[in-house]
Parts: sequence; structure tokens; C-alpha cells
Amino acid sequence: MANRPFIVGNWKMNGTRAMLAEARAIDRGAARHAGVRVAVAPPFTLIQALAENAETMAIGGQDCHAAASGAYTGDVSAAMLADSGASFTILGHSERRAMHGETDEIVRAKAEAALAAGLEVIVCVGETEAQRDAGQAEAVVCGQLDCSLPVGEGVAGRVTVAYEPVWAIGTGRVPSVEDIGAIHRAIRARLVTIYGEDGAGVSILYGGSVNAANAAELLAADEVGGALVGGASLQADSFLAIVLAAG
Ligand code: G3P
Repeated sequence: MANRPFIVGNWKMNGTRAMLAEARAIDRGAARHAGVRVAVAPPFTLIQALAENAETMAIGGQDCHAAASGAYTGDVSAAMLADSGASFTILGHSERRAMHGETDEIVRAKAEAALAAGLEVIVCVGETEAQRDAGQAEAVVCGQLDCSLPVGEGVAGRVTVAYEPVWAIGTGRVPSVEDIGAIHRAIRARLVTIYGEDGAGVSILYGGSVNAANAAELLAADEVGGALVGGASLQADSFLAIVLAAG
């Protein structure tokens, strides 16, 4: 059976308790679109408050540490996320790869820790503009899949992949529907190589400048199972318009 479309808001480093009303509006909207799986990943500081109030949408983290506990000032473990009410976490976002030096190996270790803590994971991959211009987009993305994804028996059912071309994030630029379809097909093929037949059931999200106006077209591209949304997830109206487009 095909997965429900999965629409995830990544609030990044945005949001204080003043955003709780917005989150409630998103949750109420999600309840009206049962055919779509809706989730929000707020900053760590809001996870518990959102999780306590959410009736329909899932709440997740944007990162976690690979270790269970210890002397890692400023970090948060996967078990802490789960304890706060998160059911999933985003990992390997390009902003973490670029600004925090996260390698594929680190992302995989985090993913394994998150799964061990009972969380689902959304593992992000995507090429830079220079890599795309050099014709390396598919090779880069497949290399990231090979080395970042958690492996093991029964793992695929708790993994989602988000394809986010770095040059499309927050820029208002998006790849053509054909280009998105082509790379999503390549991702699907690689998932089947990595996970065997379970790879056919892994949702692949597109992320990068998704908004209310372009969502329907982007979501219709081949093998696109949903969207990972940044800026447009910060207002209930625009985020719910994307949810509607997915339904
Ligand atoms: O993870 C979501 C993301 O990086 C895309 O951000 O603002 O382009 O939708 P945005």
C-alpha cells in the first residue's frame, strides 16, 4: 500500500512560545486532511510544548547527538528528543553538514542512535550548485545515501529520505519537475539497492523553496512522496495550503 503523502515543516532556528498558536492552527488543519501525514520539527525548546498540544500532527527534532549521554555541551540526545515527545528527527540537513561539519558517517551514527531511541528519521541529501553544474548531482546524492543511511534488518520502515538541492533552499529557485523526477527515480533505485524490496516503500520528500504556489506541481513529480518545507511552514496558512496540495 502506498504511503500517505508526508508534509514536514522544518522551522529551523525560528520560533518562541509566541508560535504556539500557529502550531495549534497547523494541528487543527492537519485533522481536516487525514489523507496527508503532517509533521513539524520546531527548535528543541518548543518540542515538548508542541507535542503536549498536538492531536494530529507529529512533532520531531531537527538533529540529535549520536551518543546516549555525556559531556557534549549544548547537544541533545535522541532519547532526550523522545522524552520530550518527538516521534522523529531530521538528520543530515545541508545546513548541519555545511555549518557543523557533519559527515555522512556522523549522520549515519546519529540515525542509528535515533532509531535505537525509538524515533523515525528523515535523512537529508542534496547537491550544491557547483556539483549540479559539474553534472555530479546524482553521484553526490547516491554517495550520501550509501554512507548516511542507517542499515540493518527492518530499518527501512522507519526511514524517510529528503532530497534538498542546496541551491534551492531558501532561494526561491526550484529544479524543473523533470529534474526532480529524474533524481527521485535515481534515489528510489539506490534505496532498493541498499534496502532490497523494503527500499520501494521508503518515502522520498522534496525540499527547497516549496510554497503554496508551487507545491501541487512539485508534489506531482515522479517518486515525490511529500515535502520538507522551511520558510513556508512558519505560517499556518501557507503550510496548510501545501498540505491541501498534497491531499
Ligand atoms: O528543510 C527545509 C529546507 O531546507 C527548505 O527550506 O525555506 O527553502 O523551504 P525552504
